[in-house]
Amino acid sequence: MHDQAEALRLKMMGNQKQAARSIAIVSGKGGVGKSNFTANFAYGLVAKGKKVLIVDMDIGMGNIHILFGATPNYHLKDYLTNSKDLWEVVTPIEDHLAFIAGGSGLETVLEWSDTMFARLIDGFSILQRSYDVILFDMGAGATKSSIDLIVAMDEIILIATPEPTSITDAYSMMKFICLRDANKTFHIVGNRVLKEQEGKDSLARLQLAMRKFLSVETSVLGLLPDDVHVRNAVIAQTPFIRMYPNAQVSKRMLSITDTFLYGEKPGTAIENSGFIDKIKGIFQKGRV
Ligand SMILES: Nc1ncnc2c1ncn2[C@@H]1O[C@H](COP(=O)(O)OP(=O)(O)OP(=O)(O)O)[C@@H](O)[C@H]1O
Ligand SMILES: [Mg+2]
Repeated sequence: MHDQAEALRLKMMGNQKQAARSIAIVSGKGGVGKSNFTANFAYGLVAKGKKVLIVDMDIGMGNIHILFGATPNYHLKDYLTNSKDLWEVVTPIEDHLAFIAGGSGLETVLEWSDTMFARLIDGFSILQRSYDVILFDMGAGATKSSIDLIVAMDEIILIATPEPTSITDAYSMMKFICLRDANKTFHIVGNRVLKEQEGKDSLARLQLAMRKFLSVETSVLGLLPDDVHVRNAVIAQTPFIRMYPNAQVSKRMLSITDTFLYGEKPGTAIENSGFIDKIKGIFQKGRV
């Protein structure tokens, strides 16, 4: 295994081009809107001139392709198990936007092996050179392999709804991650917010808990309202930001995109990235 990792390290050294920002989209509780956020945030980034790849990490139960109304021929597992080459599992949506499907209705959930993890690193080291941002839509909850992957990312976007159960589960998820590695950029997005002030207060409580008990600073990228356009867009299998550009939820998504790209001051883009180094570190330690 050491030889493989060393070979990969040498391969990576030949690549000094600016790497993509790698972002894990996570939540504590399931069903809070990660996949819808990922799909629409991706469009927002593309609208700002970025080249974006989405990776559906909900392997076996992926649904990001449904949100795009796309029918992928292959999915991540086909690449990981050596059945397909990397570019065969990348499904283009339009210029500057593509995704790797997680595969749905798979009979067996993927059992990670060292070989698959090595192949994942290999693939992402190539993809990092082709995109500006790679968004990993994670499945709900914390499995060992999902935490290993999340820990390897540069940045985390935590999606939480304002309900107390979502907030406490979100905190637990952050605790899992921070116990492994607290040294990353944490962003929070409030979703399905009915009352603005209630949403702000919930996220402020979450931020405070993370600061006090995990010693981690977070930034709130913004709040997305509970909006019927989201459901209608899911049914139409078209991202809401495209289908209803004037809806409140779409305008908010664009402002979240701006905050993500430029922070508080437009014009100063946030750079990155140590994703591949970190994921290699995990691989070398023989995790997963
Ligand atoms: N802002 C919103 N307004 C109204 N409905 C929403 C909003 N966000 C999400 N939803 C609804 O919640 C459903 C679940 O969203 P989504 O599939 O994105 O959640 P998820 O976190 O990815 O779920 P899972 O944990 O199962 O992967 C959507 O189909 C949509 O109907
Ligand atoms: Mg999802």
